[in-house]
Amino acid sequence: MQVIAVMNYKGGVGKTTLTANLGAEIANLGQKVLLIDLDPQANLTFSFYSMDEWREELRKDTTIMRWYEGDMPGREIALQDLIVTPPTVNDQLTETGGRLDLIASHLKLIDIDLKLAARLGGGTTLGESKRKFLDLHGCLARALQHERFQEYDLILIDCAPNFGLVTKTAIVASDHVLVPAKADYLSTLGIQYLVGNCDTLVAEYNDYAAHGAGADRPIQTRFLGVVFTMVKFYANKPIGTQQYYIEDVRLNGEIPVLSGVMRDSPRHFGDAGEDGVPMVLRSPVTDEVVVEFRTLAAEIQRGIDKGIAR
Ligand SMILES: Nc1ncnc2c1ncn2[C@@H]1O[C@H](COP(=O)(O)OP(=O)(O)OP(=O)(O)O)[C@@H](O)[C@H]1O
Ligand SMILES: [Mg+2]
Repeated sequence: MQVIAVMNYKGGVGKTTLTANLGAEIANLGQKVLLIDLDPQANLTFSFYSMDEWREELRKDTTIMRWYEGDMPGREIALQDLIVTPPTVNDQLTETGGRLDLIASHLKLIDIDLKLAARLGGGTTLGESKRKFLDLHGCLARALQHERFQEYDLILIDCAPNFGLVTKTAIVASDHVLVPAKADYLSTLGIQYLVGNCDTLVAEYNDYAAHGAGADRPIQTRFLGVVFTMVKFYANKPIGTQQYYIEDVRLNGEIPVLSGVMRDSPRHFGDAGEDGVPMVLRSPVTDEVVVEFRTLAAEIQRGIDKGIAR
């Protein structure tokens, strides 16, 4: 079982669209995939459930908010008890042997994020503060060690566009981080901050884990790379300005750049998941953009395998 956090604290760059389609593509290959929606906007959840279904079937008892609330995440309910199997998309997967499960989000998760952050403070000794840091940041990592999660081949976590505590629990819980980004000035500038912040978090966690009294395991979260999204093509190549920013990140070398991209195509991605089924399962298998996405998914899968082999 491998865990990937799909994150970028820049909003609207295609994180959720990538997560939904990547999950569906890999499930379509016969694998068992779990998607975790950690964004209070809950767009990933609404890619698989209508607002009415969410309200009637999920809102009260079966969202990630229930798990994060309380004194310490996981005290009220076990994470595995929140797993649901969205029916519409899974109807399309019956022949494949694959499955796409979800842990849904809740719009009030935003309040929980702030409350969790407040809980970090208040330690009276350095040891106590470090203990709190490890307990809170490592909560999702510990929960995912439960045997129920080992049945999945892949867990994809869709993060909110921020670097709040909930997002940090996802980074600590992940083997890999995948960064969707637009090829423009501000987005590529943001990637440097993001890499730096993630590296600092991992280093701090491992420092505390190594010197603390607890049994916390060091983490080895690594960047799978940047996936450029909403890329505009002209004559089979990204348009000049976008090509410039893509090359800039590649040459910078701080984080790998995947050769596959998600092209700008409102026709394919604009209404992603509106009917409960992501684009890759809705469009003809020969569609150029579907083929392109499949190549990207295969590249990501190879990146995961390489990480395991290291
Ligand atoms: N490749 C694409 N081509 C065209 N439109 C796209 C593409 N990818 C995503 N979109 C559209 O862009 C919008 C933002 O995408 P998405 O919600 O996936 O981004 P996000 O990074 O998850 O946003 P947020 O930061 O708000 O969570 C959506 O309306 C989506 O349908
Ligand atoms: Mg999103």
